[in-house]
Amino acid sequence: MEFRLNLPPRILLLHLTLLSVTKWSESARVFTIMNSCDQTIWPAITPGENFRGGGFKLKPGHSLVFKAPVGWSGRIWGRTGCKFNKTGTGSCETGSCGSKLKCSASGKQPASVAEFTLAALDFYDVSLVDGFNLPMKVTPVNGTGNCTVVSCVADLRRRCPAELSVKSKGKVISCRSACDVFDSDEYCCRGVYGNPTTCRPTHYSKIFKKACPTVYSYAYDDPTSIFTCSGSDYVISFCSFKKKQVLNVTR
Ligand SMILES: *[C@@H]1O[C@H](CO)[C@@H](O)[C@H](O)[C@H]1NC(C)=O
Ligand SMILES: *[C@@H]1O[C@H](CO)[C@@H](O)[C@H](O)[C@H]1NC(C)=O
Ligand SMILES: *[C@@H]1O[C@H](CO)[C@@H](O)[C@H](O)[C@H]1NC(C)=O
Repeated sequence: MEFRLNLPPRILLLHLTLLSVTKWSESARVFTIMNSCDQTIWPAITPGENFRGGGFKLKPGHSLVFKAPVGWSGRIWGRTGCKFNKTGTGSCETGSCGSKLKCSASGKQPASVAEFTLAALDFYDVSLVDGFNLPMKVTPVNGTGNCTVVSCVADLRRRCPAELSVKSKGKVISCRSACDVFDSDEYCCRGVYGNPTTCRPTHYSKIFKKACPTVYSYAYDDPTSIFTCSGSDYVISFCSFKKKQVLNVTR
């Protein structure tokens, strides 16, 4: 950028200040990913170039900080019960993206997912459209505007209808979406149900919505589930939110 120095100094200074503020707020956003679960999780992020290649291991109580550029639009979810070898190949009980530690494709159902589109005005949401595997919360920090905290704090593994439950060793490890289980146009918002007028909440999506009122519970759940904030950083935390949480970030 080139500056012409024929402006009065005061105005030039104002210009420089505005430019640097704009540049600072538009260059990158800070994403803090926290594991508040009592088990190790393997967060996954797509696209993941700015997030350790799209996946990493995160022990209980640990957090990692990343920067994502404005223009980034992606998904963040958690994986559980993973085993990866030294080359990052393996599998997970829930949320896996094929056999890789570093995800380049979307995860396999079911998984609770946070979705972001970073722009002049950010859009973000937490979605259970693909089912539920871990409680999660998105907290905007340092932003301006509505900036609502979105969470699914309730552990839907405990309230999952039997026909949607995925079990391992007798324990429910995730809750599938009705679309995934029954594959019908009504549950999947396809065919004649493929628009916001005909695709209505169902018995199953209502169970998700009741437990977590601010999440996407079916494909056209937009009016109550999409949130905006400007120039914000985000904290994405997994699991227990009952204890008062101290944001103890290691940089
Ligand atoms: C990791 O696992 C993959 C798939 O099973 C295998 O092809 C690869 O050789 C393994 N690498 C190591 C270092 O064990
Ligand atoms: C803030 O959110 C509420 C409800 O989500 C909405 O009605 C309102 O228009 C929003 N305000 C702004 C400034 O975006
Ligand atoms: C909020 O902004 C301040 C000042 O730039 C920064 O130090 C802090 O890390 C930000 N908080 C988060 C959670 O990103």
